[in-house]
Amino acid sequence: LNNGLALTPQMGWNSWNFFACNINEAVIRDTADALVSTGLADLGYNYVNIDDCWSNVKRGKGDQLLPDPKTFPSGIKALADYVHGKGLKLGIYSDAGIFTCQVRPGSLYHEKDDAAIFASWGVDYLKYDNCYNLGIKPKDRYPPMRDALNSTGRQIFYSLCEWGQDDPALWAGKVGNSWRTTDDIQDTWKSMTDIADKNNKWASYAGPGGWNDPDMLEVGNGGMTFAEYRAHFSIWSLMKASTHWAPLLIGCDVRNMTKETMEILSNKEVIQVNQDPLGVQGRRILGQGKNGCQEVWAGPLSGNRLAVALWNRCAESANITVKLPSVGLDGSSPYSVRDLWKHETLSENVVGTFGAQVDVHDCKMYIFTPAVTVASS
Ligand code: GLA
Ligand code: GLA
Repeated sequence: LNNGLALTPQMGWNSWNFFACNINEAVIRDTADALVSTGLADLGYNYVNIDDCWSNVKRGKGDQLLPDPKTFPSGIKALADYVHGKGLKLGIYSDAGIFTCQVRPGSLYHEKDDAAIFASWGVDYLKYDNCYNLGIKPKDRYPPMRDALNSTGRQIFYSLCEWGQDDPALWAGKVGNSWRTTDDIQDTWKSMTDIADKNNKWASYAGPGGWNDPDMLEVGNGGMTFAEYRAHFSIWSLMKASTHWAPLLIGCDVRNMTKETMEILSNKEVIQVNQDPLGVQGRRILGQGKNGCQEVWAGPLSGNRLAVALWNRCAESANITVKLPSVGLDGSSPYSVRDLWKHETLSENVVGTFGAQVDVHDCKMYIFTPAVTVASS
């Protein structure tokens, strides 16, 4: 969607994966504080997004949307002011149906009024869900909110949450800044890997205007190992595409993170892969070993560089070896190889093949740069 937003993938935090309906204004304020104090905001995580359950179950006078008076007594405007005061942006949530998924009021047929109230509160981002949709196609339900947001005159990031219904990559580029390609993520290895594979299928449908959204991060929520979360973060970073980037939205309690969680979420070198200006979505290139579970993913970066992930989805540790031409590199030229998790340049002179031992479910990530060749006289 060409509304001047989303020139790089959105980064930030969303309340749903950790808090679900247990949110209130203090959680949102404290999260904004924590994003700043941990340094995550400086790394680019600047949207603080409230998901479902912020609104009152009934609309007010003139059908106006109201915040839940028990949990958001100060109102959304005050919260937006607070979040803006921290140099961050505030996101909110509604639904292209008659109710949200948690049965709060939906915005179907209220698009204009709801967009206007969001803008008046100073909202910067709308996640727009798909429950209770009366069986109407997303193609018909999502554009009215785009037009309503547009007519407010406020720049509001428009995130479609249509669960991959009706192949959004084919139509949503003109409707939203990002669109979900799959069902909801869960905090499990199985869910994370299924979603990686489904989102990967849309890599070649890249078009101008928005991003494939494989759903929010589960890093830090406890259902996967450190290695699995490292893989989750590496692959989500890599899966951006030419103007179709995967959003990086933290989904854990940033007020209470372990050292390991922070180490993953704050890996600047991996974030830079996600935010690279070339914006080509990385994809699965090949799988070796039993059932192809020793996977090689790659995606081009600006400056003639290539990001390469070696992802071991097998049940035992594996040595994953790549012939450089299989990922599109020159088979006879030297490359400098940087390890993005070790934060170390491994070699200035890798020629022909590259391999590494990768632990069960872990993912190593590298950038290959053509080595500077010294001209001989
Ligand atoms: C749907 C969405 C989730 C979340 C919940 C909230 O399931 O896909 O991301 O927003 O609704 O109810
Ligand atoms: C079901 C659920 C929704 C949402 C979608 C995602 O429909 O009821 O809340 O999670 O799946 O596919």
